[in-house]
Amino acid sequence: MDIGCDYGEKTLAIIKELKRNCVVNTTAIDPAGELLNIFKQQTMNEKISFICATWQNYQPEHQFDLITAIHIFYYIDDWQTAIDKMLANIKDKGLICIVIRSNDEVCQFKDYFFQKIHGNNKPELNFIELCDLLDHLQIKYKSDLVQSRLNINDCVLLNEQGKELVEFFFAFLMMICLLM
Ligand SMILES: C[S@@+](CC[C@H](N)C(=O)[O-])C[C@H]1O[C@@H](n2cnc3c(N)ncnc32)[C@H](O)[C@@H]1O
Repeated sequence: MDIGCDYGEKTLAIIKELKRNCVVNTTAIDPAGELLNIFKQQTMNEKISFICATWQNYQPEHQFDLITAIHIFYYIDDWQTAIDKMLANIKDKGLICIVIRSNDEVCQFKDYFFQKIHGNNKPELNFIELCDLLDHLQIKYKSDLVQSRLNINDCVLLNEQGKELVEFFFAFLMMICLLM
């Protein structure tokens, strides 16, 4: 099950890897119906159940071998309930994979603008807070820190990666302005 699958880019990459060794039945959840439609259109050959819902509102009908939640915890306020629900829906020896941003310099740059718009009342939580919660709940986990290929200095150099990064920040600011 992939929670917050968007239009399926990462879901499909994971399915492709898993299919090397087993038959894969996937449940793909996202509250954004238009993204799910894009996903559906490009995946005629996979066994995927598409669910248009938030994780909070969805009640799975069976348990899963693998649950992924990639960059979605920013949109969930009650992390403990979300994690408890994942644990309740994972099979024995199953695996839950949560991907969340760390606190690297790109994120600090982003936080600077986020804070300007939202003030100090709504900090965006990250890897550190997630580990604190898992420790507090005494849940065993393994963490991997993946180095971003983005370097904030590229913005000034305005090379190809820098342009991508500047575009990302513009898109991020536009999104925040629209949400306000
Ligand atoms: C930043 S995107 C990440 C998409 C994808 N997992 C990836 O890493 O490419 C976040 C996705 O989570 C979805 N989302 C937002 N709130 C959610 C919630 N409460 N439950 C499940 N998905 C949610 C959004 O619609 C969006 O598609």
